[in-house]
Amino acid sequence: MEFFLDTADVDEIREIAGWGILDGVTTNPSLIKKSGRDFKETVREIASICSGPISAEVTALDTYGMVEQGRELKAELPENVIIKIPCTPEGLTATKILTEDGIDTNVTLIFSASQALMAAKAGATYVSPFIGRIDDTGHDGMELIAEIMNTWANYNLESKVLAASIRHPTHVLQCMQLGAHTATMPAKIFRQLMKHPLTDRGLDSFMQDWAEVKKAGNA
Ligand code: E4P
Repeated sequence: MEFFLDTADVDEIREIAGWGILDGVTTNPSLIKKSGRDFKETVREIASICSGPISAEVTALDTYGMVEQGRELKAELPENVIIKIPCTPEGLTATKILTEDGIDTNVTLIFSASQALMAAKAGATYVSPFIGRIDDTGHDGMELIAEIMNTWANYNLESKVLAASIRHPTHVLQCMQLGAHTATMPAKIFRQLMKHPLTDRGLDSFMQDWAEVKKAGNA
């Protein structure tokens, strides 16, 4: 399973990339706004820290604009940048055109299995269903991941299912059980996934015992 960071904060990206298990990064216009920095400069820096796919989102709403922006971003930014496109009819056409150009895409803002299937048919490299935002409406976002994974099993689709809008470690654990190919999550969730009180307690006790081994001159 691929683990992506969902942030435009380069300090966080450096921290998690340092663990050696970061497979990619997703950004969106809101995350770029939060960074307070220039869009292209930030994506360029992110792409220099992480060699995996870095999603940069188009902001045009019409097909022509999305395709132009996608081609421009691909031409100006490092090779590992992929183009994030909203799941609209215009976005589907843009995905199809960019895919024919050989450009990798991530179709975002997916809230139903039918949207995911259509994005896959358009050639999306990644399809991004948003779990947390569905939970926020009082429904179960994880059911959508299950429906999508069933659909993928039925039709043997090539696009990777990128679980997005992840709000807590249990979302990631459930995605692992359902076989989602990728999860994108904030740095906080990477830290939560790695933390276990028994690891900390076990390490403390090994260190205390080792100090006594040394004191006894046996190390
Ligand atoms: C995914 O690519 C999106 O950037 C992200 O997961 C959205 O998450 P949010 O619902 O927490 O904003």
